[in-house]
Amino acid sequence: MRHLVLTGFMGAGKSSAAVRIAKSLGRDALDTDALLERQFGMSIVSYFDRHGEDAFREAEQQLVAEVLAEEKPSVIALGGGALQSAKTRKALARHLVVYLELDAAAAWARVRNSKRPLARDENAFHALLRKRRAHYEDTAHAIIPNAPRGAVREALPWLRDLLERPAGARMIWTSGKGWGYPAVFEPGVLARRDLWVTRRDAVTVSDENLAAVHPWLKEGIVVAPGETAKTLAQVESVCSQLAERNFERGRQIVAVGGGVVGDLAGFAAAVYQRGTPFVQVPTSLVAQVDSAYGGKTGVDLPAAKNYVGAYHQPDAVLVDTDALAGLPRAELVAGYAEVVKTALIAGGRLWKAVAAGVDLSKPLDPWIVFECARTKLAVVAADERDADLRQILNLGHTIGHAIETAAGYGTLRHGEAVSVGLAGALRLSGQDALREQVVEICRAAGLPVTVSGVDEREVLECIKLDKKRKGDSVPFVLAGGPGDVTPGHSVPESEVRSAVKELLE
Ligand SMILES: NC(=O)c1ccc[n+]([C@@H]2O[C@H](COP(=O)([O-])OP(=O)(O)OC[C@H]3O[C@@H](n4cnc5c(N)ncnc54)[C@H](O)[C@@H]3O)[C@@H](O)[C@H]2O)c1
Repeated sequence: MRHLVLTGFMGAGKSSAAVRIAKSLGRDALDTDALLERQFGMSIVSYFDRHGEDAFREAEQQLVAEVLAEEKPSVIALGGGALQSAKTRKALARHLVVYLELDAAAAWARVRNSKRPLARDENAFHALLRKRRAHYEDTAHAIIPNAPRGAVREALPWLRDLLERPAGARMIWTSGKGWGYPAVFEPGVLARRDLWVTRRDAVTVSDENLAAVHPWLKEGIVVAPGETAKTLAQVESVCSQLAERNFERGRQIVAVGGGVVGDLAGFAAAVYQRGTPFVQVPTSLVAQVDSAYGGKTGVDLPAAKNYVGAYHQPDAVLVDTDALAGLPRAELVAGYAEVVKTALIAGGRLWKAVAAGVDLSKPLDPWIVFECARTKLAVVAADERDADLRQILNLGHTIGHAIETAAGYGTLRHGEAVSVGLAGALRLSGQDALREQVVEICRAAGLPVTVSGVDEREVLECIKLDKKRKGDSVPFVLAGGPGDVTPGHSVPESEVRSAVKELLE
């Protein structure tokens, strides 16, 4: 049996969460700091002052090893620095490690007046969090970001399920105003027909390509593949088929496919009987790193992409990175543009991994997919309705969408248009060196960075139709560098024209 182990920085609320979770699972709650204080016969502060941190860490490592070796499964709150020990990190692999993530400012606000020995100086505190963060992230099977009050309680049924899943399964919890759901990453679920996060009476919506790989999807609704299926006519067709099946509102629609199926089926779920629950099972790279999360659903009009839609958050997202093996190479490559975009937004370790170069002839590291999802979910949780921050996810999209529309839907893949759009956005950002680097990364991945046969005036017209337009001006998302992407910039028309011009052959 696996222990459920809570990790995270000081102030994340591990001890109280352990008590709550243990109660619900019928297990004992253990707190390694409290156990150590009992063993030392003094407070951790006194032990630190008398014997120093090294002696404390040694005792901590020993105690954690003993607790993890216990047969009886329990819920364990681990001290904030326990993951510094490589032995402890290794021992945790077979248990369910839940990282209660808290941003630096929130963590400091919670502990600044406590007696914790490592919370005496704010700068040192932030430096310590930066140092430890990678260990928290790398050992975690489940991440509950920012630990908002109530998030652990909402995530609890999913944590219980995760305890029963294979050790490789991982989860990111996300929540906003009035909603919360898990993105679960578990390789192999599609081939096993094991969509365990869905309800029994769910109906799948997929496309012909997916149904060819997984014939059981033919029992559900199957649409034609590709962007041309993202129409209001197709929404009507899906809704009519649901009605023919006597599908009622309380049941669940399950979108199994790429971004097209996700957007289309998600929109059908948003409007069918004024709203039906749905689950996303993204199978393309675009969908796994981007479109399946955040609840934006919709279809295209002939005039512009994604012009009709609704915000409708899924009940869950189930990601099978093994499915990417069946994805045509050109689609994988196209999806990589969203990876590059997301890495630019995230900066840090994700940007480093992408900048180091990724060989797409080999299976993509599932860590990259996971980190892209985490980045997107964090942005959406901060701004579900695109009021401000969420617009950063459109880096490269204003020009990209315009080129996609001007070329005619179905001519360029969405990701290919985004790749070209990224080059445009970085030129507008005045980031010429970063632009060269990104162009090189995209080129090496097999993505286009210019297009032919597209009319400049038409692209500029399409930019003016951008959904983010306010009056006459279209705000652009610009980058000051990796990890520094901001929305709402106005750019002179002449600069936009010349940035577009250099993208057209
Ligand atoms: N809602 C959002 O937030 C959001 C974000 C980004 C993109 N999008 C939308 O996503 C769409 C693009 O998504 P996409 O690139 O996934 O396109 P897509 O859904 O058309 O999928 C690409 C192709 O790959 C096939 N495919 C998908 N998964 C497969 C698998 N595992 N094995 C074999 N074939 C597979 C599909 O049948 C299709 O032919 C666009 O319409 C875009 O507007 C939406």
